[in-house]
Amino acid sequence: MNNSISFDRAADFYDRTRDLPEPVATLGIQAILDAAGTGARILDAGTGTGRVSVPLLKRGANLFGIDLSTKMMSLLRTKFPPARLAQADVSRLPFGGKTFDAVLTCHVMHLVGPWREALLEYRRVLKPKGVYINARTERVGDSAHETIRSHWRSQVAKHGYPFQRPGVKDDKELQDALSTLGAEVTQVEVVRYPRTYVVRELIEGIASRTHSHTWDVPDEVLANSLDELQSWAQDKYGDLDKAYEEEACFILDITRY
Ligand SMILES: C[S@@+](CC[C@H](N)C(=O)[O-])C[C@H]1O[C@@H](n2cnc3c(N)ncnc32)[C@H](O)[C@@H]1O
Repeated sequence: MNNSISFDRAADFYDRTRDLPEPVATLGIQAILDAAGTGARILDAGTGTGRVSVPLLKRGANLFGIDLSTKMMSLLRTKFPPARLAQADVSRLPFGGKTFDAVLTCHVMHLVGPWREALLEYRRVLKPKGVYINARTERVGDSAHETIRSHWRSQVAKHGYPFQRPGVKDDKELQDALSTLGAEVTQVEVVRYPRTYVVRELIEGIASRTHSHTWDVPDEVLANSLDELQSWAQDKYGDLDKAYEEEACFILDITRY
């Protein structure tokens, strides 16, 4: 069964709640183009609203986007009308073998139930010297953001809703699976940059269910967990309106078979 998470329900707020910070918008996008190679035919698997693919297209990339969510892609189309898009599942790609020079995923593989099948599909549609590029963002060092999220998840788990995602659990699981397929993965750290978080805004983000890890939690459990989170955060951080600066890192895992 395909239990992947379509982002249809997020289309109305996705662009408002996710950004492409400046050093990623320039250096990150360029690094993807460089990894794909000059004139590469690129498949953006799980293209969403085009947060990454639209800047690539605007720089002239020869890119095709697919996603489960037509609502997400209709926003992409408003930003770049000539975009070539199709509704498709990354684990059953509607393309012949050896079609692309690069397959790109960004913040997708944790949402894909049949993610191992998807990796086989990426390999199938890549030309012999093609690359699979998984772009991701990692927080560096202590992160209030991560601490708050994991505390909230542990509270929700106590209410009987353990944190689960249908796809890849972590970067290591993905890299191990790729190695098992005989691939060689090179990790390229593209750029580090500061990010600022306000604790109250993070809690409000959970309350307004902007991220998929909140979507399966029943209203009552969410309400109870937020009360607990609020008082825990008050004890731990004191002033909930204080801003915390953290470091983030944009990374490309570049896979060659
Ligand atoms: C978090 S968004 C990321 C979108 C874009 N790559 C970005 O970086 O902004 C994940 C996207 O993957 C899509 N998705 C999830 N599972 C999928 C699958 N099995 N096949 C195709 N798309 C999928 C969702 O609908 C959503 O649009």
